[in-house]
Amino acid sequence: MFSSTPVIHIDPARTISRVDPRIYSGFTEHMGRCIYGGIYEPHNPNSLSDPYTGFRKDVLDALKELNVPIFRYPGGNFVSSYRWQDGVGPKHLRPRRPELAWLTEESNQFGTHEFMQFCKEMNAEPYICLNMGTGTLEDALAWLEYCNSSANTYYANLRRTNGHPEPYNVKYWSLGNEVWGPWQVGQMESQDYAKKAFQWAKALKLLDPKIQLISCGETGYADWDRVTLKKLVPVIDYHSIHIYTVSEGNHAVNVMGPAAAEKALEITKSLIDLAKIEAGSDKQVTVCFDEWNVWDPVRAPGEKGAEEHYDMSDALAVASWLNVFVRKADIVKIACIAQSVNVISPIITSPKGLFKQTTFYPLKLFATLMQGTSLNVHVSSPVYSGKTVPDWVEKLENKTGGDEKLTKFIDVSAVLSDARDEIRVAIVNKHATDAYTIPIRFGPACKVVGETVKVFEVWSPNLKDNNGWDGERVQTVEKEESWTGEYSVKRHSFQVLVFRIDVSS
Ligand code: AHR
Repeated sequence: MFSSTPVIHIDPARTISRVDPRIYSGFTEHMGRCIYGGIYEPHNPNSLSDPYTGFRKDVLDALKELNVPIFRYPGGNFVSSYRWQDGVGPKHLRPRRPELAWLTEESNQFGTHEFMQFCKEMNAEPYICLNMGTGTLEDALAWLEYCNSSANTYYANLRRTNGHPEPYNVKYWSLGNEVWGPWQVGQMESQDYAKKAFQWAKALKLLDPKIQLISCGETGYADWDRVTLKKLVPVIDYHSIHIYTVSEGNHAVNVMGPAAAEKALEITKSLIDLAKIEAGSDKQVTVCFDEWNVWDPVRAPGEKGAEEHYDMSDALAVASWLNVFVRKADIVKIACIAQSVNVISPIITSPKGLFKQTTFYPLKLFATLMQGTSLNVHVSSPVYSGKTVPDWVEKLENKTGGDEKLTKFIDVSAVLSDARDEIRVAIVNKHATDAYTIPIRFGPACKVVGETVKVFEVWSPNLKDNNGWDGERVQTVEKEESWTGEYSVKRHSFQVLVFRIDVSS
């Protein structure tokens, strides 16, 4: 049914897949103030850093609230001219190098060991992106040996000499970053990349068969993805895609942007299936969405550190992104918000402290509450029609039936908790001006227990409201509301509703 009055139907029997906690992963690139001045600031004038590691204690504490399971490193575009060897060994001997992605200088004071230590403190797994620009297969093998080998060989011994006897056992390795992009050092054609990545994959898995490999995709809906998947499906574990959504100063464009990511995931799933059929392969390959976020590179250029200052509208866009990942739990198993600190990030620092951006709050709610099994929610909702970026979303929507539309104003995902005693429903009301009262109906075998529902709401009266050094206007408000079978959402609001349930099954 296609309705102007929203209705949500949830049946715990209609499961999609487990939500992989790795969809709440992060990304720390040597870019702008993400590493230097972000997570790492030895000699902070206000004693905010750990005197031994140089890590900003306040930043690590804030990141810990987000339960980040994996950090991707060291880029991004940065990796395509990065020599990992420069970033190990005594710090005073590490060379400064020209840096070609963001046209800066790299001091190499933060390198492999510092990153591994950071991950250890965060209780997160490291994920290394390999340099397929200036880097050779020999360099990549050497880095893998350095990190993972327990043999009596040169690079494993070098790691021991540099103070870490035990291997780091890095599980996730990706084969280059955005190799298709004209901005990339070492840009390649899809066929050339596919052939090269295939050979790299073989060699890397010979050295360490336990690693998981991630191929470099584009947006998921590009011919690059089709060509590279066709060749690489037998040797990879994940296909990476990247999408950034923009607002262009328009709230509707901002919040409808993640619709493209939803479609991209459907297309990528089909491309993976097609490649598997063609290769006669039963290999499990899923998506690693290892760069996603709201980013307008005109507003916040990469060369200037990409320090976006997010507002209430952006918080709703990020919540909509996360709804996509929960709904597509069957195909997306890893997703890394780009990035974790200062650079298009939920956290902004200065030498005096930090503040949490508006986007921090939906991210935290998802990472803590939207875990378990994703449910196939049915939503009838008024639908947006108008400009989208990219414009193909709008064109596809014109031909699509109401229930299938990607641009519903009421955007929902839901999970069944592992204990099967709670259903948590994430609802974004994307409409700038309209509030709605939404009946929420549960399947026949599911009863809501008690007379209240716990609500975590992110809302502020003005879409342009943001957080800053003068305070955080956009935050989570926690409340307990009486449950009457329907819930009223404010205009342009985000909320997670936690229902205690009894499921007879
Ligand atoms: O995350 C910022 C940049 O965006 C990354 O370095 C690059 O991979 C992408 O284009």
